[in-house]
Amino acid sequence: MTTTTAVPSVVPAGQAPAEATALSDATAYAAAVEQAVQAAAAYYDNGSSALDDDAYDRLVRAIAEYEAAHPDETLPGSPSGKVAGGAVEGDVPHTVPMLSLDNAFSDEEFTTWAASLERRIGRPVASWNVQPKLDGLAIAARYQQGRLTRLITRGDGTAGEDVSHAIGTIEGLPTELTEPATVEVRGEVLMTTAQFEYANEVRTQHGGDPFANPRNAAAGTLRAKDRAYTVPMTFFGYGLLPLPDSGDGLAAELADSAHGDLMDRAVRYGVNTPASTEVPGTVVTTVEDVLARVREIGARRAQLPFGIDGIVIKADLAADQRAAGEGTRAPRWALAFKLPAVEKITKLLDVEWNVGRTGIIAPRAVLEPVDIDGSTVTYATLHNPADITRRGLRLGDHVMVYKAGDIIPRVEAPVAQLRTGDEREITFPAACPQCGSGIDTGEQRWRCERGRNCHLVASVAYAAGRDQLDIEGLGHSRVVQLVDAGLVSALPDLFDRLTRDDLLGLERMGETSTDNLLAALDAAKRQPLSRVLCALGIRGTGRSMSRRIARHFATMDAIRAADAEAMQQVEGIGGEKAPVIVTELAELSDQIDRLAAAGLSMTEPGATPPAPGAGAGAGAGAQVSSDTGPLAGMKVVVTGAMTGPLEKLSRNEMNELVERAGGKASGSVSKNTGLVVAGEGAGSKRTKAETLGIRLATPDEFAELVGEFIR
Ligand code: IVH
Repeated sequence: MTTTTAVPSVVPAGQAPAEATALSDATAYAAAVEQAVQAAAAYYDNGSSALDDDAYDRLVRAIAEYEAAHPDETLPGSPSGKVAGGAVEGDVPHTVPMLSLDNAFSDEEFTTWAASLERRIGRPVASWNVQPKLDGLAIAARYQQGRLTRLITRGDGTAGEDVSHAIGTIEGLPTELTEPATVEVRGEVLMTTAQFEYANEVRTQHGGDPFANPRNAAAGTLRAKDRAYTVPMTFFGYGLLPLPDSGDGLAAELADSAHGDLMDRAVRYGVNTPASTEVPGTVVTTVEDVLARVREIGARRAQLPFGIDGIVIKADLAADQRAAGEGTRAPRWALAFKLPAVEKITKLLDVEWNVGRTGIIAPRAVLEPVDIDGSTVTYATLHNPADITRRGLRLGDHVMVYKAGDIIPRVEAPVAQLRTGDEREITFPAACPQCGSGIDTGEQRWRCERGRNCHLVASVAYAAGRDQLDIEGLGHSRVVQLVDAGLVSALPDLFDRLTRDDLLGLERMGETSTDNLLAALDAAKRQPLSRVLCALGIRGTGRSMSRRIARHFATMDAIRAADAEAMQQVEGIGGEKAPVIVTELAELSDQIDRLAAAGLSMTEPGATPPAPGAGAGAGAGAQVSSDTGPLAGMKVVVTGAMTGPLEKLSRNEMNELVERAGGKASGSVSKNTGLVVAGEGAGSKRTKAETLGIRLATPDEFAELVGEFIR
């Protein structure tokens, strides 16, 4: 069933999302049907379709529009009105058809659909159940007297494939229910992000190619029999129905239950449902509330530990569902509100190798620009050379690119079906592209042998940045001048080597700018330890990690005295990161000595060093930051624009303020958040805080609360 040949492309990969492209004649229509059937077959077989979801949706819409205008030209193979586009088959009959869902792509389309449903049933829909549309594969799980006996894929909706070999490998789908019920649970099998990463690790260790994305990984894993290894997946239930031998009582009860009650029952049976997630199904009564909930779930999408591709809206009551009835492809009482695609197919034009401030040489994909979720993506990360090799990427390949929320876009996999034979190998650099030195290829991430000295300009400019030593007048071009003139070859040179005359000798440097820069360098000496640490650019530590380390240890001496074990006492530093930090600090020893001798601050105000021999989590520094101050122990999220006394503070400075006042700065709102400071323009984080009932403060209210800690 796997597609190997490319069909004439009616919907070009990578085209901007839009309305369906109109099909001009019967030939174009036939080609579109062929393309859709092939794409659906590949997608449902192993997730490797030559079309991304958005392109597929547009193609199917174009086909439906053509058929509406030319009803007698409809081809029997058309995907319209068929489950899985009519592309898959199965041999285990379903007792009740396993249907698909119709789609809406806008508020208007949903509102129109809701109105037509209400017209059909002749009354308003009593209540709506709004739940995430999980991006995995549909399966039916049959339980006989509480024991899981059979797993069947959706197939063509009438019959599916037996995948019972996967019993016992799917979290949330117990082999035994808490009650001896005979029922069928339907739902979605997927891999969470963590399961996906684990699956790829195990698979590549066994010599396999990595999966492109979690959906693909779940599809491949569910089908695979007799693998030498097992990788876990997760199940989320979204349906519960009787089987022929359920018994009349239970059958009647299930048939009359509202969807929400069925889901509660599934949870009681021990089955996982979206109720266990940050986006549980909710019951609302108006179309406006449905749309509000759609937006709430959409706003949380990027933070969820699993993929969703939309929101499913169902009439909740059994009576409303019965009155609405079912079509051949989809029920009339439910609809999928599709979210913008986060994956698109585009072309890999080139690979650039950039050297970061710590000397890491990172490959970056240059792409044919593609619109994903509202922004144009031209570059995407390629992780590291080994990853490129594992994925078998080639220049000129069509690649699946993923981007959600604010994350850096990444290339997932080549689309093998779209290869023309003209693709070229990606060449890896033989020497550091920045300085020509050798490359240390010992680790997955390649690094210039000169480490942070390689890209001196980048590392010094970073150290001088606003969130580090905040040296005004020392921007990128000034650093280039200093480095080119041989005046700076390491960060401490700024403080113990650079003279007034050196500066005056530079182009565009008069008396005033020189004195200003000297004053700024002097002021930098008063920055707290956390910023000095951050300025050193230790691998694996950014602003917040530097603050945590500085607060925990309180002095540079204590930090330098820490071994890997002691370093792991700092929250967020695990067994992998700790030794890297310790080694980096040792490598930087000379520089740290010179900075200390030059008078830079080596202590963190308000923190005290951990008591000698203090055990896990017992760092006194850590206690100081959470036991005192108006925000003692509170997780605080800052969002939107700051105003009033806080107007000039960068986000990093706000986070520093939160921590000085005893709190813990965090970037995302969860049920553990204590306070959200929401300025003007605050978006999804404020909405989320409101939904979770978390305390909100305006910038002014917050300024009052932490007044004494503002600098
Ligand atoms: S209800 C009769 N609920 O989306 C109702 N489906 O595009 C049929 N899906 O085949 C399904 N999350 O595989 C339903 N919360 C959810 C869902 C969901 C994901 C999948 C399911 C379905 C497909 C339709």
